[in-house]
Amino acid sequence: MNPATLIPVPDPLPIPYGWFDVLLIVTFTVHIILMNALVGSAAIGLVRSFKGKSQLAKDIGQKLPPLLALTINLGVAPLLFLQVNYGHFDYVSSVLMGGWWLAIIGALLFSYYGFYFYKFRFESLSLSWRRLIFGSSLAGLLFTGFMLTNNISLMLVPNNWLQYFSGQGGFLNLADPTLIPRYLHFMVGAVAVGGLWVALLGQMRKEDEYVESGMKWLTHATIANLAVGLWFLMAQPREILLAFMGGNVPATATLAASLGAAGMLLFSGFRKNPRSAAVWAVITVFLMACARHWQRVLMVSPWKEMDAIPVTHQYGSFYLFLGFLVGGLALIAYMVKLYFKARTGRA
Ligand code: HEM
Repeated sequence: MNPATLIPVPDPLPIPYGWFDVLLIVTFTVHIILMNALVGSAAIGLVRSFKGKSQLAKDIGQKLPPLLALTINLGVAPLLFLQVNYGHFDYVSSVLMGGWWLAIIGALLFSYYGFYFYKFRFESLSLSWRRLIFGSSLAGLLFTGFMLTNNISLMLVPNNWLQYFSGQGGFLNLADPTLIPRYLHFMVGAVAVGGLWVALLGQMRKEDEYVESGMKWLTHATIANLAVGLWFLMAQPREILLAFMGGNVPATATLAASLGAAGMLLFSGFRKNPRSAAVWAVITVFLMACARHWQRVLMVSPWKEMDAIPVTHQYGSFYLFLGFLVGGLALIAYMVKLYFKARTGRA
């Protein structure tokens, strides 16, 4: 069977697809930064609690339920833009994953309740219950991230879709050599940004020890991620690898720029300057998201020509959306300000 026959005919777009790509990259960057702070700080809190320092896990735990809510909300936006431009790939991979994909709803609910329980029942829980609830809630997030990596990588490889017809039903993209390094690249990145998050928290609350240890997590995880990123690059199909090695100018330029930004991030990390590291972290994640975008463009180009998708040039709803986006972002900025001001209850 030719996998191309499994790709549905894309619907016409109201405005040129480039607009949706920009919105997709920007909203995805915000989603991933929030996810990183969430997953990374939870992982650091758990490790520290096993080292007998449970105050950090408690302080981090106070912030996890709102962080999880923001991560989910900021995941909806890229999901919509992804479906507009690449729905004819992503709908198929979602359906082929079947129950695995749907399971993220249960996993997220489980983690959400777990983190709430941890936050509000902290004092009445024994140490082992605290670790169990915190750890299993984190496991729910790690599972969700793994399912997302499966889906987002499976949509790029229609040849792998044929596995569905071997009769086993919903499946994961385990045959893809990029799957594991891709997932690890996101998760190690999460530990780095989680460390930065801890350092920022420490800076605001004048806890030098949090700053010190947060910046250590940031620099160590970033160095480790350079190696994981190289593995991810080498696992790409040959033509994609060559595109990033100079064959395709936007792909090469964004990858080079993101590596430069990662260098600046490390520099700020070693100088123990959380604010400057935060700026470089945002720039690095944004540029990496751009490089990842070119990887997707190159992967889907043999299957579907984006320029061939009809455009109806109806700009009304686009302007309406932009108005709500600006208003919404202002509200979120206000909420984040309040959030940082909120004092965590201490024992
Ligand atoms: C809170 C738990 C979550 C975690 C840990 C998480 C993690 C991730 C990770 C690791 C990726 C990158 C996948 C890859 O490219 O390999 C990703 C992408 C994505 N996530 Fe999340 N996610 C979470 C929740 C959500 C939710 C609830 C939604 C939707 C409502 C969502 C929407 C998306 C979308 C659309 C992408 C792909 C965007 C693109 O390919 O441009 N995420 N997420």
